[in-house]
Amino acid sequence: MALLTVLCYPDPRLHKVAKPVAQVDARIKKIVADMAQTMYEAPGVGLAATQVDIHERILVIDVSDSQDELRVFINPELVWVSPETKSWREGCLSVPEYYDEVERPDVIRVRALGLDGKEFEVEADGLLSVCLQHEMDHLQGKVFVEHLSMLKRNRISLKMKKRAKELVGQR
Ligand code: NI
Repeated sequence: MALLTVLCYPDPRLHKVAKPVAQVDARIKKIVADMAQTMYEAPGVGLAATQVDIHERILVIDVSDSQDELRVFINPELVWVSPETKSWREGCLSVPEYYDEVERPDVIRVRALGLDGKEFEVEADGLLSVCLQHEMDHLQGKVFVEHLSMLKRNRISLKMKKRAKELVGQR
Protein backbone atom coordinates (compact mmCIF):
# COMPACT_ATOMS: atom_id res chain seq x y z
CA MET A 1 0.00 0.00 0.00
CA ALA A 2 1.06 3.55 -0.55
CA LEU A 3 -0.04 6.94 0.66
CA LEU A 4 -1.38 9.10 -2.14
CA THR A 5 -1.17 12.89 -2.44
CA VAL A 6 -4.52 14.62 -1.99
CA LEU A 7 -5.13 17.52 -4.38
CA CYS A 8 -6.14 20.81 -2.76
CA TYR A 9 -8.80 23.25 -3.95
CA PRO A 10 -8.60 25.23 -6.24
CA ASP A 11 -6.45 22.70 -8.15
CA PRO A 12 -8.04 22.44 -11.62
CA ARG A 13 -7.58 18.64 -11.63
CA LEU A 14 -10.35 18.48 -9.00
CA HIS A 15 -12.75 19.51 -11.77
CA LYS A 16 -12.06 16.57 -14.09
CA VAL A 17 -14.98 14.20 -14.61
CA ALA A 18 -14.15 10.60 -13.67
CA LYS A 19 -14.66 7.73 -16.14
CA PRO A 20 -16.45 4.49 -15.24
CA VAL A 21 -14.31 1.54 -14.20
CA ALA A 22 -14.44 -1.11 -16.94
CA GLN A 23 -13.39 -4.04 -14.79
CA VAL A 24 -12.71 -4.50 -11.07
CA ASP A 25 -9.27 -6.07 -11.44
CA ALA A 26 -5.98 -6.11 -9.49
CA ARG A 27 -5.15 -2.56 -10.61
CA ILE A 28 -8.44 -1.24 -9.21
CA LYS A 29 -7.96 -3.21 -5.96
CA LYS A 30 -4.52 -1.64 -5.53
CA ILE A 31 -6.00 1.85 -6.06
CA VAL A 32 -8.74 1.09 -3.49
CA ALA A 33 -6.16 -0.14 -0.92
CA ASP A 34 -4.04 2.98 -1.41
CA MET A 35 -7.08 5.26 -1.22
CA ALA A 36 -8.26 3.58 2.01
CA GLN A 37 -4.81 3.99 3.58
CA THR A 38 -4.73 7.64 2.51
CA MET A 39 -8.23 8.27 3.93
CA TYR A 40 -7.47 6.64 7.31
CA GLU A 41 -4.12 8.41 7.58
CA ALA A 42 -5.63 11.88 6.93
CA PRO A 43 -7.96 11.06 8.82
CA GLY A 44 -11.15 11.42 6.83
CA VAL A 45 -14.51 9.66 6.47
CA GLY A 46 -14.46 9.51 2.68
CA LEU A 47 -12.21 9.89 -0.35
CA ALA A 48 -12.96 10.02 -4.07
CA ALA A 49 -10.37 8.90 -6.64
CA THR A 50 -10.55 12.38 -8.22
CA GLN A 51 -8.96 13.80 -5.06
CA VAL A 52 -5.84 11.69 -5.59
CA ASP A 53 -5.67 12.57 -9.29
CA ILE A 54 -7.12 9.25 -10.47
CA HIS A 55 -10.07 10.00 -12.72
CA GLU A 56 -12.07 6.81 -12.40
CA ARG A 57 -15.37 6.31 -10.55
CA ILE A 58 -14.05 4.93 -7.24
CA LEU A 59 -14.97 5.96 -3.67
CA VAL A 60 -13.90 4.75 -0.26
CA ILE A 61 -15.96 5.65 2.80
CA ASP A 62 -15.84 4.80 6.49
CA VAL A 63 -18.34 6.63 8.69
CA SER A 64 -17.94 4.27 11.68
CA ASP A 65 -16.64 5.66 15.00
CA SER A 66 -14.16 2.80 15.21
CA GLN A 67 -12.86 3.47 11.66
CA ASP A 68 -12.96 -0.24 10.82
CA GLU A 69 -15.95 -0.45 8.46
CA LEU A 70 -14.52 0.33 5.04
CA ARG A 71 -17.10 0.71 2.28
CA VAL A 72 -16.03 0.66 -1.36
CA PHE A 73 -18.21 2.07 -4.16
CA ILE A 74 -17.13 1.50 -7.76
CA ASN A 75 -19.17 3.19 -10.50
CA PRO A 76 -21.69 4.56 -7.95
CA GLU A 77 -24.96 5.90 -9.34
CA LEU A 78 -27.75 7.72 -7.51
CA VAL A 79 -30.95 5.79 -8.14
CA TRP A 80 -33.26 7.72 -5.80
CA VAL A 81 -33.23 10.81 -3.60
CA SER A 82 -35.79 11.82 -0.98
CA PRO A 83 -37.69 15.07 -1.52
CA GLU A 84 -36.77 16.05 2.03
CA THR A 85 -33.48 17.83 2.43
CA LYS A 86 -31.12 18.34 5.33
CA SER A 87 -28.30 20.73 6.06
CA TRP A 88 -24.96 19.40 7.34
CA ARG A 89 -21.67 21.03 8.20
CA GLU A 90 -19.25 19.51 5.70
CA GLY A 91 -15.51 19.40 5.40
CA CYS A 92 -13.19 17.97 2.75
CA LEU A 93 -9.61 16.70 2.66
CA SER A 94 -9.16 18.84 -0.47
CA VAL A 95 -10.26 21.99 1.39
CA PRO A 96 -8.28 21.73 4.64
CA GLU A 97 -9.56 23.46 7.76
CA TYR A 98 -12.73 24.78 6.15
CA TYR A 99 -16.23 23.68 7.12
CA ASP A 100 -19.60 24.94 5.98
CA GLU A 101 -23.27 24.03 5.75
CA VAL A 102 -24.54 22.32 2.61
CA GLU A 103 -28.14 21.35 2.00
CA ARG A 104 -28.70 17.99 0.29
CA PRO A 105 -31.41 15.32 -0.04
CA ASP A 106 -31.85 13.60 3.33
CA VAL A 107 -32.10 9.95 2.23
CA ILE A 108 -30.67 8.45 -0.97
CA ARG A 109 -30.31 5.11 -2.75
CA VAL A 110 -27.05 4.30 -4.49
CA ARG A 111 -26.19 1.45 -6.81
CA ALA A 112 -22.54 0.49 -7.23
CA LEU A 113 -20.08 -2.35 -7.68
CA GLY A 114 -18.20 -3.75 -4.72
CA LEU A 115 -14.58 -4.91 -4.66
CA ASP A 116 -15.87 -8.36 -5.71
CA GLY A 117 -17.18 -6.77 -8.92
CA LYS A 118 -20.78 -7.50 -7.92
CA GLU A 119 -23.54 -4.92 -8.03
CA PHE A 120 -25.21 -3.86 -4.78
CA GLU A 121 -27.66 -1.21 -3.69
CA VAL A 122 -27.68 0.73 -0.45
CA GLU A 123 -30.15 3.13 1.13
CA ALA A 124 -28.30 5.77 3.11
CA ASP A 125 -29.29 8.45 5.59
CA GLY A 126 -27.38 10.58 8.08
CA LEU A 127 -23.63 10.91 7.68
CA LEU A 128 -23.40 8.08 5.13
CA SER A 129 -25.89 9.88 2.88
CA VAL A 130 -24.02 13.19 3.15
CA CYS A 131 -20.67 11.51 2.61
CA LEU A 132 -21.84 9.54 -0.45
CA GLN A 133 -23.31 12.65 -2.07
CA HIS A 134 -20.20 14.69 -1.28
CA GLU A 135 -17.89 12.02 -2.73
CA MET A 136 -20.06 11.42 -5.80
CA ASP A 137 -19.87 15.16 -6.46
CA HIS A 138 -16.07 14.82 -6.55
CA LEU A 139 -16.36 12.22 -9.33
CA GLN A 140 -18.33 14.80 -11.34
CA GLY A 141 -15.53 17.32 -10.77
CA LYS A 142 -17.45 19.20 -8.13
CA VAL A 143 -16.02 20.26 -4.76
CA PHE A 144 -18.48 20.96 -1.89
CA VAL A 145 -17.60 24.66 -1.79
CA GLU A 146 -19.27 24.93 -5.21
CA HIS A 147 -22.58 24.55 -3.35
CA LEU A 148 -21.75 27.83 -1.57
CA SER A 149 -22.00 31.44 -2.74
CA MET A 150 -19.47 32.91 -5.19
CA LEU A 151 -18.33 35.31 -2.49
CA LYS A 152 -17.53 32.48 -0.06
CA ARG A 153 -15.86 30.44 -2.81
CA ASN A 154 -13.55 33.29 -3.79
CA ARG A 155 -12.62 33.79 -0.16
CA ILE A 156 -11.87 30.07 0.29
CA SER A 157 -9.86 30.01 -2.92
CA LEU A 158 -7.64 32.87 -1.69
CA LYS A 159 -7.28 31.27 1.73
CA MET A 160 -6.21 27.93 0.21
CA LYS A 161 -3.66 29.58 -2.13
CA LYS A 162 -2.21 31.48 0.82
CA ARG A 163 -2.09 28.27 2.87
CA ALA A 164 -0.30 26.41 0.05
CA LYS A 165 2.33 29.17 -0.18
CA GLU A 166 2.92 29.05 3.58
CA LEU A 167 3.37 25.28 3.43
CA VAL A 168 5.95 25.61 0.66
CA GLY A 169 7.74 28.27 2.73
CA GLN A 170 8.02 25.86 5.65
CA ARG A 171 9.88 23.22 3.64
NI1 NI B 1 -14.29 16.05 -0.30
